[in-house]
Amino acid sequence: MCGIVAYLGHREAKPILLEGLKRLEYRGYDSAGIATVNGKLEVCRTVGRVSVLEDTLRKLPGFHGSIGLAHTRWATHGEVSERNAHPHRDDKRGIALIHNGTIENYAALKQYLREKGHVFTSETDTEVLAMLISELYDGDLEAAVQNALREVRGAYAIAVLCEKEQGVLVVARKGSPLIVGVGDREFVVASDASAIVAHTTQVFELDDYQVAKLSRDAKGETTFRTSTLDNVPVTPKIRQLEFELEQIELGSHETFMMKEICEQPRCLRMTLQGRVSEREGRIVLGGIAEHARELIRARQFVLTGQGTAYHAAMLGEYFLEDLAKVSAKTEYASELRYRNPVVVDNTVVIAVSQSGETADTLAALRELKERGALTLGVVNVVGSSISRETDAGVYLRVGPEIGVASTKAFTGQVMVLAMVSLYIARRRFMSMDTAGEMLGELSRVPELMERILEQSNHIRKVCEKYVDRENWLFLGRGYNYPVALEGALKLKEISYIHAEGMPAAEMKHGPIALINDGMPAVFVANKGPQYDKVMLNIEQVRSRGGRVIAVATEGDQEIKSYADDVFYVPPISDPLSPLLTVVPLQLLACHAAVLRGHDVDKPRNLAKSVTVE
Ligand code: G6P
Repeated sequence: MCGIVAYLGHREAKPILLEGLKRLEYRGYDSAGIATVNGKLEVCRTVGRVSVLEDTLRKLPGFHGSIGLAHTRWATHGEVSERNAHPHRDDKRGIALIHNGTIENYAALKQYLREKGHVFTSETDTEVLAMLISELYDGDLEAAVQNALREVRGAYAIAVLCEKEQGVLVVARKGSPLIVGVGDREFVVASDASAIVAHTTQVFELDDYQVAKLSRDAKGETTFRTSTLDNVPVTPKIRQLEFELEQIELGSHETFMMKEICEQPRCLRMTLQGRVSEREGRIVLGGIAEHARELIRARQFVLTGQGTAYHAAMLGEYFLEDLAKVSAKTEYASELRYRNPVVVDNTVVIAVSQSGETADTLAALRELKERGALTLGVVNVVGSSISRETDAGVYLRVGPEIGVASTKAFTGQVMVLAMVSLYIARRRFMSMDTAGEMLGELSRVPELMERILEQSNHIRKVCEKYVDRENWLFLGRGYNYPVALEGALKLKEISYIHAEGMPAAEMKHGPIALINDGMPAVFVANKGPQYDKVMLNIEQVRSRGGRVIAVATEGDQEIKSYADDVFYVPPISDPLSPLLTVVPLQLLACHAAVLRGHDVDKPRNLAKSVTVE
């Protein structure tokens, strides 16, 4: 959601900014814009894809210079239009600004600035910030930004430049993500590392309420200074980015989503690496080791997240109750944060998030931390806000996820939550043998997944039969109920097919009325404790004319007399089955979207990382 790129250095800024915007396209956006300074400030904004901006710029002279900003906007305040797109500017002082986040007190600030004679041309909260910085500008851009941000309530990651200080770029953050890449006599600033890694692997992050002034002198030498909003100097920690350019390139795949589905076995091997010892029934999780005692003694776990991460969190709840025998519950972060929840002593909150930046998840986490809970993060992006704000955590290690529909992050989250639960279970009462057996199975998940991926063509052919249907049901029970929810979400997100996921038994309490001739119902019907019950539910659908697609366990021939089509997964113990049963559903959604002619990696209206409420 909203992508920021900024450049200051010795090279032409425009191509670097456009390439950066393309790398950030996956975050989701509806318009784009760029500003450069070469003597004078030039701004260009367009509605639609970055390619539209690129085409427009090709026809325009200018836009040279080695300092600039660029932005992809995901509309929050005001319609999708050129005038609402970023950068926003104040022509009087030649100031341009890009912003990710929301300024909550923008209406009051706008009123104040109007009284001062400022004229607004957009409906955005961002333009207010550009004008406020301009109003406070007195020859020092860094000071103007600090002073302006002291007046602001809300969330922001911003980059600002000024025609009068052509060797200065000022960036700041509170709540929204921002990374500064430090290269050889250049800086590349971006919302995430994917727009930086091609240029440098040395980066630093700002903490909330911090500002960085990036400068280039007449000789082209660069320096930076970081400070608080009150101008107290701070020293950021420069770190090495842990991923390579190939990880964010398509390679031989047609879509990032398909690439990421297919690389799950390799990624999950990374998730497991060095963390499990089957022989000793031991799990080593360095990120939570310091808090092992508190985890063992915890009275209650609260798991939270949004979207796919919420479904993974549900499985975490099942693991904790079933394997570690400790009370656990899952809640949407957007509800939890405002619900005034009771937090009993020795509560642990687990925030599950791919990006580590989801605004609701972050806010729920803060709320429960305030109420005394120990906080754990199950996060993919290293250095993200959630990973920085939690007391402890376990990274997924599945590499950057570019596909908007989350796949490898889901299986990574489920695997980590299974490991955390086994870590606690083993320290509470689970025997070494039982733990060893489960860890053995967990370690074999990657190779078992490879067998499922080989069925991709078969799944595509089955998909062809049903892809014109507009309503689908996804049904599962027990550990595979969250998988049914996830299967339905995947189909909705990228195929725009209406799909509902639910517990298989719940169907007869209403949704069964929807079933008509030929309606596809996907059942997760692997051999588990509720297998017979699921068969009953399948009968109920078939007898009403529904078409049944079943995800079943290899060797189950009987299912063929119940289901129209079957996708097989290798046998595995029930708790770990979601790691396998979800894979055919990911493939199904991806094939359905391609067959319906949709852009799988840029689904309409969706953002990869939702940094606003
Ligand atoms: C958005 C994405 C989903 C994701 C959810 C939570 O809705 O489109 O794919 O599951 O946010 O994101 P997070 O980064 O917190 O896992």
